[in-house]
Amino acid sequence: METLKLDIRKSGIAISDAMKQQALEAASLLYSGKGEGNDFLGWVNLPSSITDEELDKINATAARLREKADLIICIGIGGSYLGAKAVLEAMSNPFRFLHKNDTCPTVVFAGQNISEDYTYQLLEASKEHSIAAIVISKSGTTTEPAIAFRLIKSEIEKRYGKEEAAQRIVAITDKARGALKTQADNEGYTSFVIPDNVGGRFSVLTPVGLLPLAAAGIDIRALVRGAQAMEQATAPDVDFDHNPAAIYATTRYQLYKSGKKVEILGSYEPRLQYVNEWWKQLYGESEGKDGKGIFPTSVTLTADLHSMGQYIQQGERTLFETIISVAAPTHHVTIEGDEANLDGLNFLAGRRISEVNAKAELGVQLAHVDGGVPNIRIEIPEVNAEVIGSLLYFFEKACGISGYLLGVNPFNQPGVEAYKKNMFALLNKPGYEEESKAILARL
Ligand code: PA5
Repeated sequence: METLKLDIRKSGIAISDAMKQQALEAASLLYSGKGEGNDFLGWVNLPSSITDEELDKINATAARLREKADLIICIGIGGSYLGAKAVLEAMSNPFRFLHKNDTCPTVVFAGQNISEDYTYQLLEASKEHSIAAIVISKSGTTTEPAIAFRLIKSEIEKRYGKEEAAQRIVAITDKARGALKTQADNEGYTSFVIPDNVGGRFSVLTPVGLLPLAAAGIDIRALVRGAQAMEQATAPDVDFDHNPAAIYATTRYQLYKSGKKVEILGSYEPRLQYVNEWWKQLYGESEGKDGKGIFPTSVTLTADLHSMGQYIQQGERTLFETIISVAAPTHHVTIEGDEANLDGLNFLAGRRISEVNAKAELGVQLAHVDGGVPNIRIEIPEVNAEVIGSLLYFFEKACGISGYLLGVNPFNQPGVEAYKKNMFALLNKPGYEEESKAILARL
């Protein structure tokens, strides 16, 4: 199955042979492992290196959690959260909580913020359920998930006792280091390893993404199969003109060089909203450094045409758009005729809602291109696990190429440390005495 078609005809970009060569050199830096950040290239061949045994172990652990609990709380932030959240939202029915006979365990997220109200509301709601937890942190020291885990672990231990709690908590962390690794060993939790050479935002196809998704009943084999297909479709021996990741990376790079500094990722399917959020982290953390990088932002359409549409059409001309276009909906709904026709919509009677959505998409594309917003279109046939796996890997591969084209190290994130230092200084964390004095003097 072809999982993705890239169309750059409305981007206004023509890619020269010299530019193709530059992109292929950037791609070959990934494959040779000679570029900056080459300690973090484990994701490149991850899909094809995942074994059946690994998937069996993940599915078996997920099945155990599903047997024990009807609410599984997944704790993590950033790359230890967004991949699972993106796929889960894409694959779930947003109204399932309204179906009285729904039996599938619910996976919810914690540790992706430090909101007292969010934490309270989750802990309160969890009291009505049998619970289990998946705690994810590569470093094992990130403050947000550590706070959430402390509270959720305590709730599980109070309710079920320490021994049973150890059966209900699964840790995903570094193979040897960090506070979470130590806790997992001391408490006897089942644990999974985040490979050293896979950074957080590239980790969706490791247990970080796969275990929560399997726990939610999502077909992770199909997800991996889609990623494997895209790994092949973007392999080193594929020529530039047939490699969608290389073409996407190059097109956005040329747009950036021509003054288009903001990329808006959009879709007409609200279920893809968290794919946008995952993509923002992937590109924002990978490229936004050394005073460079496209600012990644997103819209969900047509809703945001009624809020951001005005700016996109007529504001600063520094924008371009990338639209994930879904060719076919999963379900079938037609618009009914109405005798009175007070809303004047009888011209749509008998037609599918998806036809209206597709025409909105086409009309917006033409209007935005006319208004000076170049358009890149990524068409996917439908939303299913295989297609989403392919889409995620496509964006990862393009991100690696794009970062090297831009001349940055796409695999570090030195900038995210700055807020942590201030926060610890303001909280008087031991070891931050000097920073505390300095920051208080500034207030
Ligand atoms: O992409 C990244 O590396 C970050 O977003 C991390 O995933 C995030 O900060 C969470 O880190 P950790 O998994 O160590 O708790």
